[in-house]
Amino acid sequence: MNAYAQELRATAKAMVAPSQGVLAMDESNGTCNKRLNKIGIEPSEAMRRAYRELILTTPGLGDYISGAILYDETIRQSKEDGTSFLAVMKEQNIIPGIKVDTGAKDLAGHPGEKVTEGLDGLRDRITEYYQMGARFAKWRAVITIGEGIPSDACIEANAHALARYAALCQEGGLVPIVEPEVLINGDHTIERCFDVTSRTLRTVFNHLSTQGVAFDQMILKPSMVISGLDCPQQASVEQVADMTVKCLMDNVPASVAGIAFLSGGQSNEKASAHLNTMNIKYAEQAPWPITFSYARAIQGPALEHWKGQSSNVSTAQKLLHHRAKCNAAAHDGKYTPDLEKEMAAVTA
Ligand code: 13P
Repeated sequence: MNAYAQELRATAKAMVAPSQGVLAMDESNGTCNKRLNKIGIEPSEAMRRAYRELILTTPGLGDYISGAILYDETIRQSKEDGTSFLAVMKEQNIIPGIKVDTGAKDLAGHPGEKVTEGLDGLRDRITEYYQMGARFAKWRAVITIGEGIPSDACIEANAHALARYAALCQEGGLVPIVEPEVLINGDHTIERCFDVTSRTLRTVFNHLSTQGVAFDQMILKPSMVISGLDCPQQASVEQVADMTVKCLMDNVPASVAGIAFLSGGQSNEKASAHLNTMNIKYAEQAPWPITFSYARAIQGPALEHWKGQSSNVSTAQKLLHHRAKCNAAAHDGKYTPDLEKEMAAVTA
C-alpha cells in the first residue's frame, strides 16, 4: 500500500469539508497576464505578486477556503514584507496545492483539439513541491465540443495523461485533482454536453483504474453539464443541477473522495446557484461531497475592482471574501439571493 495513503485520504477529506471549497488561483503567467491586461494593468512579475498577495491576505479567507491551488511562480513568492505566501496560507489554515501540468497543446493530427502536457520530469517536481509544503496538485485537460469533436483520440490521450499524473501524485504524497474540463464554448445543447461529459468521465475513470489510482485519495474537478454559451435554449438552474448529478452518478465511482467543480465561464451567481441546487436536491443521495474549485467565479469581482491600486485592496478583498462565502454556503445548500444583497450594501 502507498505509504502516504492515510495522509492522502485526510487531505482529500479536508479539501471538501462542509461549508468550504477550493480556490483556484493557479493561472499560468500567460493567463494571469491576459487577465491583468484586460483591466488595464501592465503585466509584470511584481503585479502578479501583488495580486496574489491581495488574495491570500484576505481577512477570514480560510473560513471558506480549505485549499488554494498555486502556480509554480506563486508558490515561491512572498508578501511585500518578506513573509512567504506558504506561511500566509498556514496562518489562514489553507492547504497549499500546485498546478503541475504545463498546459494544453494542439493535438497532432486533430485540428481544434488539445492534449495537456507535463509528464516529463513530473516525479521530481512532485518531490520538490511536497518538500515545500504542497499537499495536493492539479492537472487540467481540455475537451472541446464542436462539429465531429471531441474525437476518441483526444479523450483517450487526455485521460491517459490524467491517469499517469494522478498515479505519480499519489506516489509522491500529493492528492491529485483530476480535471477533465468540457468547455462551455459553442452553441451545443445541454444534452450534447451531457453525452460528451459522460463519455469523457467514463474514459478518464477507465484509465485511472488501469493506472491503479486510489479513488478515495483523489478529487474530481469536472465541468457542469450545461448549455453551450451560444446555444439559443439555455437550460434552467434546476436542469443543470439534475443533469450534472445524473452524469456524475452514472460515471463516477462512489469511493471518489469528493467533487469540486470548476466554474468554466459561468456568471458568478449562476456558479453559486447551480452548486447550491445540486446540494439541496442531491447531497443526501450522492456518495461524495459536492463543492467548488472556482477561479473566475471567486476572483472576478475582486480583480475588476482592484485595478492595480493599493487604495482598492481592502474593498477588493471584501468582494473576494463575499464570493467565497456565497460558494461555501452553496456547498451546504444554503445560498440565497439575500446573501448577494449583503455585498451590494458593502460596495454601495
Ligand atoms: P474557472 O473556475 O475560472 O473555470 O477555473 C477553474 C480552474 O482551475 C480551471 O483550470
